[in-house]
Amino acid sequence: MGGVEEAIVRAAQFFSNDAAVVCLTGAGVSAESGVPTFRDAQTGLWSRFDAEELATPQGFERDPGLVWRWYMWRLEQVGAAAPNPGHRALAELARLCEAFLLVTQNVDDLHEQAGSADVLHLHGSLFNFRCAACAAPHHLTVEERGADSPPACGLCGDLVRPDVVWFGESLPWDAVEEAAAAAHGCDVMLVVGTSGLVYPASQLPLVARQGGAMVIDVNPEPGPISSIADIFLLGKSGEVLPALARAVRELRAEL
Ligand code: APR
Repeated sequence: MGGVEEAIVRAAQFFSNDAAVVCLTGAGVSAESGVPTFRDAQTGLWSRFDAEELATPQGFERDPGLVWRWYMWRLEQVGAAAPNPGHRALAELARLCEAFLLVTQNVDDLHEQAGSADVLHLHGSLFNFRCAACAAPHHLTVEERGADSPPACGLCGDLVRPDVVWFGESLPWDAVEEAAAAAHGCDVMLVVGTSGLVYPASQLPLVARQGGAMVIDVNPEPGPISSIADIFLLGKSGEVLPALARAVRELRAEL
């Protein structure tokens, strides 16, 4: 990791016991678990379809079966994935800090599997389903998972859909408000594996910065977040985050 080691030790100093930390994660944190990002997932079998067909309300109206099959395929991919050292290090950092809010744009459950509690899912979850019309929650049966088309809502008879945020849809308002308030009041904003291109999650590091927080970005590629970050930790989250958690532990041991 070279010069990154020094930056990790510098970053670790901000994770004091009483620091309020907000961590924003994106697809990159799950990359080392083999979860295809939205864009990667559109390869192979699904390469001839675009986002309009697979992840918009209009696409679902046009061809609910196609969208259903794509989401069942993604559910299978995510179901087979396990958390990586990056997810585990974030759960550990949360245990080391009194106030730690984890906000994710990911629809997988790998943070929870790694032991993180109270994860704020800004884009919903692949594991939740609801009626497209009346929003009643729906629990999938094994048969429904293997079906070629979505089941009908037990209450109103309309179609059941994945409870994820599709393009053009609003994010869950209470989650966005909670994330924005926490970002504004935090001491440290740790950003991991997000391109910083998708609004409004991309605004959270800016909100934190305006509120006076130290912004730390972890990514193997520079991007819009690294350019506004106080500390940029260049590298994969599965390598950088365990090193960061270790450095925080070592600093605490010295006190
Ligand atoms: N560790 C850390 N970061 C990584 C790693 C890794 N091992 N591998 C890739 N990355 C970084 C990439 O450099 C990129 O900056 O993860 C980021 C992934 O970017 P996106 O695919 O745009 O993912 P994300 O920022 O989460 O996208 C936001 O857009 O596709 C929609 O709704 C979907 O939630 C998603 C949203």
